[in-house]
Amino acid sequence: MFSIRLEQPADSVAIEELLDLAFGADRRKKTSYRYRDGIAPLADLSFVAEAEAGLLVGSVRYWPILAGSTPALLLGPLAIEPARQGRGVGRALVFHSLDVAAQAGHRLVFLVGDPAYYQRFGFDPVPPGIVMPNESPARLQYRLLDPSLALPEKATLRRSQSRAAHRAGRGASLAGKAIAGASCIP
Ligand SMILES: CC(C)(COP(=O)(O)OP(=O)(O)OC[C@H]1O[C@@H](n2cnc3c(N)ncnc32)[C@H](O)[C@@H]1OP(=O)(O)O)[C@@H](O)C(=O)NCCC(=O)NCCS
Repeated sequence: MFSIRLEQPADSVAIEELLDLAFGADRRKKTSYRYRDGIAPLADLSFVAEAEAGLLVGSVRYWPILAGSTPALLLGPLAIEPARQGRGVGRALVFHSLDVAAQAGHRLVFLVGDPAYYQRFGFDPVPPGIVMPNESPARLQYRLLDPSLALPEKATLRRSQSRAAHRAGRGASLAGKAIAGASCIP
């Protein structure tokens, strides 16, 4: 059994250890970290999975980015404690956080990862006009949270410091309700 809750400041050491374990200590050399350096993750979309005795067994975070001038989210890192992998923890963290993001008015999400894993969450490889410089195009994926949004035909992904601009402005208060209702999932 595990439960999902919002990340708290006291989780940061355990999360850093988990990320080192999952991705290696040189993970900060990855291109995606250039979009995170010096920018805090979005606190209302950063979730952890907690097992018995409060043990932290999973983490997902999101950063604000821009696709050209279109505000978007960068999902990740997503990491599950090795002994707990393959038990639905990653699936629960991704589905829950995407639900909260959509309810909060976020419209577009990108990530860098294995398409074979992320297609189950509705992610597709980006079309050729969407570029994250120095990243493999095959690993760059997107999902529209708002189907009325048109993906820009051509756009380079850029760092963003802005947090407020990443919401459409609707439904933000719903996020808290969804979090309070975060379920315990076997
Ligand atoms: C990848 C990861 C986040 C998945 O989380 P998880 O809790 O282990 O996975 P879930 O239990 O939700 O899902 C398991 C399913 O995903 C599949 N899966 C796991 N990793 C996969 C991968 N890299 N590629 C394709 N499928 C993958 C499993 O085969 C399983 O498939 P099934 O449902 O058909 O049996 C986790 O294994 C992990 O932390 N790995 C190391 C870090 C990492 O690679 N993070 C992702 C960055 S792209």
